[in-house]
Amino acid sequence: MCGIVGYVGPQTPGSRPLEVVMGGLARLEYRGYDSAGVALVTPHGLVSAKKAGKLANLVAELDREPLPAATAAIGHTRWATHGAPTDRNAHPHLSADQRVAVIHNGIIENFVQLRAELTESGVQLLSDTDTEVVAHLLARAYDGDLTTAMRTVARRLHGTFTLLAVHADAPDTVVGTRHDSPLVVGLGEGENFLGSDVAAFIAHTREAMELGQDQVVTLTPSSVEIVDFDGNPIAPKRYTVDWDASAAEKGGFRSFMDKEIHDQPHAVADTLLGRLDPAGRLVLDEIRVDEAVLRQIDKIIVVACGTAAYAGQVAKYAIEHWCRIPVEVELAHEFRYRDPIVNGKTLVVAVSQSGETMDTLMAVRHAREQGATVLAIVNTHGSTIPRESDAVLYTHAGPEVAVASTKAFLAQITAAYLLGLYLAQLRGTKFPDEIAEILDDLREIPDKIQEVLDAAGPVRHAAVEMKDVPSVLFLGRHVGFPVAMEGALKLKEIAYIHAEGFAAGELKHGPIALIEEGQPVFIIVPSPHGRDSLHSKVVSNIQEIRARGARTLVVAEEGDLDVLPFADRVFFVPRTASLLAPLLAVVPLQIFACELAAAKGLDVDQPRNLAKSVTVE
Ligand code: G6P
Repeated sequence: MCGIVGYVGPQTPGSRPLEVVMGGLARLEYRGYDSAGVALVTPHGLVSAKKAGKLANLVAELDREPLPAATAAIGHTRWATHGAPTDRNAHPHLSADQRVAVIHNGIIENFVQLRAELTESGVQLLSDTDTEVVAHLLARAYDGDLTTAMRTVARRLHGTFTLLAVHADAPDTVVGTRHDSPLVVGLGEGENFLGSDVAAFIAHTREAMELGQDQVVTLTPSSVEIVDFDGNPIAPKRYTVDWDASAAEKGGFRSFMDKEIHDQPHAVADTLLGRLDPAGRLVLDEIRVDEAVLRQIDKIIVVACGTAAYAGQVAKYAIEHWCRIPVEVELAHEFRYRDPIVNGKTLVVAVSQSGETMDTLMAVRHAREQGATVLAIVNTHGSTIPRESDAVLYTHAGPEVAVASTKAFLAQITAAYLLGLYLAQLRGTKFPDEIAEILDDLREIPDKIQEVLDAAGPVRHAAVEMKDVPSVLFLGRHVGFPVAMEGALKLKEIAYIHAEGFAAGELKHGPIALIEEGQPVFIIVPSPHGRDSLHSKVVSNIQEIRARGARTLVVAEEGDLDVLPFADRVFFVPRTASLLAPLLAVVPLQIFACELAAAKGLDVDQPRNLAKSVTVE
């Protein structure tokens, strides 16, 4: 997601503010972004430069038109959420009087209302972003003190945000605030820094200060003051960063994959953000397909590859159950060449993290040629698949760097569930209160993922212990089946261990022949509170393989004591609705693969032979 840098230094104007901020942006490039910009406070007011595309474009712009000497600066790399990645939408955004500049990471959910309010009062907005409103609101609230203005404005914002602002009248000040998005202070000698993570300023200082939730920080060259939104002073928490610069880019995690696994509560929460109207109805703004078309859809085909296809398989269970529309899930490369039955009543859902996978793109083109409506579920703004689709529902997982997909998977399931609920709402196959209840359950998922992450010690231990096993099997049933396949895929991809996922019911039709003494088998156990006695059937499966010598690694719901007698290891996950369980059950499997590959000394993020985005057929 967006990278943020702030700097304030000596009050003799110079080139250091720009240098520090550009250096910080370069260190934050790993986060992924599609435009970049800076604003400087100079003796003659604010100046700014911003460019779509890579940082090199901004550097070229600054070479063409150098900016004057400054005393403070803010800089931003933007991962587009609201508004295309263009020069105009790039940050910083300036107030109409050009006195305030703002950069932002996150999503301001109530920006539509705030925009309307500003427009009514005569402010002309120049971009499509949710961020620009903040610049105008700050200018209106400013009464000689930027910190107070920031407190006033921050209280009005819903959603997630890290904001930095500078004012032309305050050449020695940068103000920042945060709500659910990170912001870190870097402490220098006669200068101070702000960053979305310490990578932004690690080249200058390792002395840092954390900023808590709903706090506002005011930086001058010689002071750092923190207050809460009501203006009460907060005692700062100082610490010394002990990462080297390259680890800092991974937020202190050993690998991007490990970091991205830990990003998952945010990936799900951000994907849910901003998609309800005040009455609690789902409003998927990006879906611009005529509602009449969606009402007459008689079949959904999900096309995707790899992990994204498993996300589609999970979604199939939910969408069919909620909408009573048949859902097929097809590997994109198979779909196109089998002469599929597609027509104007078919909704094709293309799921892709990168939005660039050629197989999926080709399936999209084929489906549209056949007259289908195509909706993309994609993580990367500005990519090709959404551009070529009829509509797009973006996942907000943030940039995924590790080749093995983790947080995008959870965000894809979340987005596909939103789509299912939206169709159920539109077609009346679920009552509004039933939909509201499922949404409430979904909103609890981020905290529950965090619980799984916090309790991951035993999974890590098991992974290290099994680093030399030649093969691992995964069994699951119902939504646990695609989870089993995803668990197996993770292990193949990064640990180079033979792994296979099976439907637990299929066990006796073949795979049980593979079980021999010591064979590790993961079993994803459905909730004992679910319907259809699936739980007892899977518990029987565990007994069957255990009796034949398997080493059983069981993922089960907290409090499920029935599995204990048959589990060599049990990894509990919190209770949730059956259809949402994959969002929790897959997490121990991701951690297992990541830890095992690390224990083998392999390159977790860049496994051999694989690419993050496969742009050839
Ligand atoms: C590649 C990656 C996988 C990913 C798949 C689909 O094979 O290695 O991790 O799941 O492509 O990518 P997409 O960007 O379309 O989700």
